Amino acid sequence: MSARKIIIAIDGFSSCGKSTLAKQMAAILGYSFIDSGAMYRAITLYFLRHGIDINNKEQVVEALKDIHLSFHFNEERQASDICMNDENVEPYIRDLIVAEKVSPVAAIKEVRAFAVKQQQRMGKKKGIVMDGRDIGTVVFPDAELKIFMTAEPEVRVKRRFQELYPSNHNVTLDEVRHNLELRDYIDSNREESPLRQAHDAIVLDNSNLTREEQLEKVLGWVKERTTQTVAG
Ligand code: C5P
Repeated sequence: MSARKIIIAIDGFSSCGKSTLAKQMAAILGYSFIDSGAMYRAITLYFLRHGIDINNKEQVVEALKDIHLSFHFNEERQASDICMNDENVEPYIRDLIVAEKVSPVAAIKEVRAFAVKQQQRMGKKKGIVMDGRDIGTVVFPDAELKIFMTAEPEVRVKRRFQELYPSNHNVTLDEVRHNLELRDYIDSNREESPLRQAHDAIVLDNSNLTREEQLEKVLGWVKERTTQTVAG
């Protein structure tokens, strides 16, 4: 028996726990984990800070030339922090201010081309778990394992609320619900790489699964794809 390194693509709606699962899998498998949403969020943060008009293509293209993104492993979080032009912007990109603007930014063709190029480069050596919206359909259409995650809307609202509340006691369930609904709508209906289940993706509905149950399930799928029986 021999284990080969593969690419694992995880896509799905907002706040389904994609990153949590991807992070767990990467740690167990010794793979790198890339949160592609963090890239779109960092670009959005740059646009907000510099007052970039997203309807002005020229401004967007010029701004992208000034953005350098990289990931640096954070021992404490056991995950990579995203750096934008050498500044660790991880603490800012989850704010609602960014969440409210990220989907329109991620719908821009030039922004997607910029991010996808870097994502594909990161997957060259395989041994990677990447989560997002178009990973199995556009970024890595040949990924050996594709998972499409979903969960009941109210479960997702509660999860995201619990994530945001510790750093923002003013956040409300309604605000979070509205943001998730709007992002899912824009992400699913945009012209460029809309959120779609790849035809060969396995659907994982985790509304009623514990993290442990979910992990056991997906590790089984990984095993099927990485273990090749060598004849003779
Ligand atoms: O995954 P996360 O919720 O952090 O992603 C933030 C936003 O980035 C999504 O709502 C979506 O608009 C965009 N995104 C995307 N394609 C990806 C990952 C994220 O369009 N591969």
